[in-house]
Amino acid sequence: MRTDSGQVFRLEDYKPSDYLITHTDLLFRLDPTATLVTAKLSVKRRDGVAANAPVVLDGDGLVLESLSINGMPVSDDRYKATPDSLEISGLPQEASFELEIVTRISPVTNKALMGLYQSSGNYCTQCEAEGFRRITYFLDRPDNLSTFTVRIEAKKSEAPVLLSNGNPVEQGSLDSEWHYAVWHDPFPKPSYLFALVAGDLGSIHDTFTTSSGREVALGIYVEHGKEPLATYAMDALKRSMRWDEERFGCEYDLSVFNIVAVSDFNMGAMENKGLNVFNDKYVLADPETATDADYANIEAIIAHEYFHNWTGNRITCRDWFQLCLKEGLTVYRDHEFSADQRSRPVKRIAEVRNLRALQFPEDQGPLAHPVRPRRYKEINNFYTSTVYEKGSEVVRMIHTILGAEQFRAGMDLYFQRHDGQAVTIEDFIACFQEASGRALTHFALWYHQAGTPRVNVTSSYEADTGDFVLNVEQSVPPTPAESMKKPLHIPLAYGLLGPNGEDMEVGSVEGATVADGVIHLTEGSQTVRFRGIGSRPVLSLNRGFSSPIVLKQDLTKEDRLFLARHDSDLYNRWEAINALCVEALIAASTSGSYDFDPALVQCLVEMASNESLEPAYRALALSLPTEADIAREIGSNVNPDAVLAARSALRLAIGSAARDAFGRIYDAQADRQPFSPDAASAGKRSLRNILLDYLVAADGSPELASRQFEAADNMTDRAAALSVLAHQYPQHEATQKALSAFEERFCDNALVMDKWFIIQATIPGAATLDLVRGLTAHPAFSLTNPNRVRSLVGTFASGNQTGFHRADGAGYRFLADTVIALDKHNPQVAARLSTAFRSWRSMEAGRQEKARKALASINEVPNLSRDVKDIVERTLG
Ligand code: PHE
Ligand code: ZN
Repeated sequence: MRTDSGQVFRLEDYKPSDYLITHTDLLFRLDPTATLVTAKLSVKRRDGVAANAPVVLDGDGLVLESLSINGMPVSDDRYKATPDSLEISGLPQEASFELEIVTRISPVTNKALMGLYQSSGNYCTQCEAEGFRRITYFLDRPDNLSTFTVRIEAKKSEAPVLLSNGNPVEQGSLDSEWHYAVWHDPFPKPSYLFALVAGDLGSIHDTFTTSSGREVALGIYVEHGKEPLATYAMDALKRSMRWDEERFGCEYDLSVFNIVAVSDFNMGAMENKGLNVFNDKYVLADPETATDADYANIEAIIAHEYFHNWTGNRITCRDWFQLCLKEGLTVYRDHEFSADQRSRPVKRIAEVRNLRALQFPEDQGPLAHPVRPRRYKEINNFYTSTVYEKGSEVVRMIHTILGAEQFRAGMDLYFQRHDGQAVTIEDFIACFQEASGRALTHFALWYHQAGTPRVNVTSSYEADTGDFVLNVEQSVPPTPAESMKKPLHIPLAYGLLGPNGEDMEVGSVEGATVADGVIHLTEGSQTVRFRGIGSRPVLSLNRGFSSPIVLKQDLTKEDRLFLARHDSDLYNRWEAINALCVEALIAASTSGSYDFDPALVQCLVEMASNESLEPAYRALALSLPTEADIAREIGSNVNPDAVLAARSALRLAIGSAARDAFGRIYDAQADRQPFSPDAASAGKRSLRNILLDYLVAADGSPELASRQFEAADNMTDRAAALSVLAHQYPQHEATQKALSAFEERFCDNALVMDKWFIIQATIPGAATLDLVRGLTAHPAFSLTNPNRVRSLVGTFASGNQTGFHRADGAGYRFLADTVIALDKHNPQVAARLSTAFRSWRSMEAGRQEKARKALASINEVPNLSRDVKDIVERTLG
């Protein structure tokens, strides 16, 4: 395991390597405890490098078996091999030579799930970011682009299926017991995109014909018996391939594209060239076991990994500081795909809720870092919401600033100029500047400066002159190691609503660049003057959430209700009602008095009943801010129990006021058709299920939820009913009965049991900790499977405000103990789990002290991984 050495990697220290590995020939002789890896590397000294410069290769926990150069063994005095590096000197005078390295590794004991490991008895690899060095010594850095030829030898009985990157070249039998396959990937790639899969797997197959008429063989490999569960993923893959051609002109390049689903995986999925490896949670689905959210995630992640083929693989990162180059851009692309496949406003609202729930707290807490970080101790800890989601928002802003046409021209130039290269954010931005002729120098600060900008807007209408005047101030609060902040270029899409609710014509504007419905802020303080406005308008600002900021405006309650009813921008209609709810909930949780404004309740009921809005949108309008949302808006001295009480009170107030209307809509949305996962059907279910939560609260009885639970013919309705039962009536007999029935029915399906864990882990209240502790001993739970850990412990820590933040600190203690136990075999997942502590300073004083103690207790454990040490140290600050 990599423990903390105190080493910090810095962007400004980037230096190209002295040598390049231009071709990599790998031979794997697979064995659970003693796999032999023979790597024949074509090494090239770079021009200008002294002939006596040593080759220094990365390793991680490796054992060297043998070493030769140009076929001759290397004498002991010419190399130094440690588990972590291999340094060879006295190299040939010629600029090119062949290095052969043999290492021996043990996949079955690899529980970190990086490098070559086994999952359910099948061999698979995970190499991003620095996992390839656990397989063989290598220049394990993304700027070393190499072609790969891979020969896999395995026992036929153990691994009838043998897969790697690129195109299949050859396969055959070695003897009665062993066989082999050879794969060749002609596209030079960094080692993090290498993959190998070998095992006894079932599969489904299809074909895709690309825009230029080439046929691609598609395969999805899953556990035997699960083949029918992969058909939705296959459909999503074909739609992704078509969409990328149509929207971005990106055509697939190999003759095969394979996906493998594995049940032990640290992340969501991985874009290895021509051989994506997926967490099975993001492949397998049928109506019986998957929710609508699962279907939507599968579609999005299949697309995301596929889109990496151009944004990540054909054009890759120069170094890991550039991670957002591939991730932010690819998230933007998968968001656009989902928006096109489903509903754009619904998708946008979901994105913003997610950004605020995950990225905002990161950007406003001890782990804040720029979209392109300048330093790291452990790169695994930078696969963050900031790099991914804020990275995507930054690309979206480029689109907003340039417009669709110039944005596409910039992308085209990027693909054309940098295909086959490992590049930087500067290279990326330069393409948009050159293609559009517009300067993005100031805008680029979004990549370099951490923190969520605050924008404060006050407005006045001068009736005598017809001027509508905005005073706008922006600032970025300090973040760790960055106390001085500069103003950003913030594009604010906007509209002015007239008294009839329609957008007014805007004449001349002074004080800022305003074009195509966008105000471009560039200074700390600006006055924007709209001339010739006939009557006092209501300002709709940051439409579509055009910039990822915290916006404070002097809108009145009436203004917000007006926007919620009339804004032509559906995103801002939702934002208006959401802001009203947040405001009401903060007031209620700090005062303890629950008399909610009937006008707010009335507006929510209207939105729920408004047939001109699609059901999924109405469901979002009715989804109250979560406890975590409210806590974040309160910001400091948070008492989670008061927040929960306020939220439950508002739910009850709305449910009671609208009991009859909600009951009618609930009945009307019932689907008499056979289940279909399409967006429209899913939207109806989401509206019905949010209404169920209100109706059960208003009824004061679990009856309706029990009925839905029993009648459900799909997992969406079943899990929603179970969740309402468990969260509103945790002790009730009906809940216990439903939980047991669910468990009995699905105990053999690990992914469904995850839902059972999640529902229980998120039951509000102090008692849930003991329940969760007890469930860690459940036969379906396992500390070595990341999905189980995330469902039970991760969800408890990040999704249960009153449970995790229990006043006595026992929730913190439990998380600390789990992190310590997990760190011994899976540092990456342990580190991620420990980020649940990141908002500890916003709690009230008593809880803060208990959280600090729990964090300190992790920090004191000897031989902590570099991953956990880095998070804990930064979180303690
Ligand atoms: N590159 C993967 C993605 O974004 C994520 C990942 C990172 C997977 C590291 C595994 C390990 O799609
Ligand atoms: Zn990605």
